[in-house]
Amino acid sequence: MYAMFLCALLLAIPHGTLGQADYLANAETAAAPLLFKLYNMSSGLWDTTGWWQSSNTMTTLGDLAAIDPNAEDSVSAIFANTHVQAPNTHRDFLNDFYDDEGWWALGWINAHDITQEPEYLQTAVDIFEDMTGGWGTPCGGIWWDKAHTQVVAIANELFFSVAASLANRKPDERDYYLDWAQRSRDWFEKSGLVNAQGVVNDDLALATCKNPGDTVWSYNQGVILGAYVELAKADANEAHLTAASSIATATIANLTDANQILHDVCEPNCDVTAAQFKGVFMRNLRILHNAAPRAEFATFINKNADSIWANNRITSGSDTLLGHVWSGPFIPPANATTQSSALDALVAAASIAQ
Ligand SMILES: *[C@@H]1O[C@H](CO)[C@@H](O)[C@H](O)[C@H]1NC(C)=O
Ligand SMILES: *[C@@H]1O[C@H](CO)[C@@H](O)[C@H](O)[C@H]1NC(C)=O
Ligand SMILES: *[C@@H]1O[C@H](CO)[C@@H](O)[C@H](O)[C@H]1NC(C)=O
Repeated sequence: MYAMFLCALLLAIPHGTLGQADYLANAETAAAPLLFKLYNMSSGLWDTTGWWQSSNTMTTLGDLAAIDPNAEDSVSAIFANTHVQAPNTHRDFLNDFYDDEGWWALGWINAHDITQEPEYLQTAVDIFEDMTGGWGTPCGGIWWDKAHTQVVAIANELFFSVAASLANRKPDERDYYLDWAQRSRDWFEKSGLVNAQGVVNDDLALATCKNPGDTVWSYNQGVILGAYVELAKADANEAHLTAASSIATATIANLTDANQILHDVCEPNCDVTAAQFKGVFMRNLRILHNAAPRAEFATFINKNADSIWANNRITSGSDTLLGHVWSGPFIPPANATTQSSALDALVAAASIAQ
């Protein structure tokens, strides 16, 4: 009798209805190796991953700290240490790649949102100023790199997002940042990067400035969502949220398996770059969902968080490790890239369950 009742109860619970406390507990468990094992105090970066991925890891942990008082102290200590130590790798968080710079600018904007530390916002302001030097390719928009070899979606999405974010956080220079954000958005929408399926291809062909139909990576569907949300806040134009929702909906239709689990085409052999991508989409979908909620977004976030936990997790000593194929089975190696990317999904689920 009791067993039958329990069974009926379990069946009655639809997929993805873990409570906020469960999602938060899972996120804390998954964050632990990033907080206490892989973070390198002397470099201010995460061992087992690269420069721009470390900025994404910092951002994900920041998003956890924003909803979890238990994580606040350790994440704030990481912000402070990384702000001092990481510039030993690339001075002032500047290097030869405008996308790398954009990730760090967003990372410091996020750190400022959490701590209110003015130095962090100033770092983002200074990085953005350097990025403006990349504007003006033969196809418009900003270059991927200071050597001017490619025009890619991600550098332009990041530039747009940083500009719009600063417009909302630097009231005295609002017009300056808003102007950059609007120029960047106008360029993006006319660039041809969004294809007939409604998703964003990776780059433009420099010779023709046309979209050659290169890979549709998940992160190119992500940063643009946060950019539109910040711009909608800055210029009070709801049309940006509609544009963002359209890309999000097309991504959920086009980049998923039959169970709505997100995939990039490189799986199960993604490199240290591509293995980071999916988390970027989840982080920004969560931002969009908070601004313009849709049941389909919440369901998608929960399904991915649930699948990561159920199918893509191993225990190694005291650590819980997450791989880069979210549908499972767990495929090694797990490292700061795979862990922080999957953590984005867990944090998103915890955040929207609040
Ligand atoms: C930590 O970073 C330093 C560089 O600052 C490096 O020499 C060292 O090997 C790193 N530690 C590990 C365990 O990778
Ligand atoms: C991609 O998304 C668009 C927009 O939602 C949809 O019309 C199309 O059918 C999707 N394509 C695939 C292959 O799922
Ligand atoms: C981290 O994981 C990715 C995805 O499996 C892999 O390509 C990369 O080589 C790994 N890096 C390290 C240092 O283990």
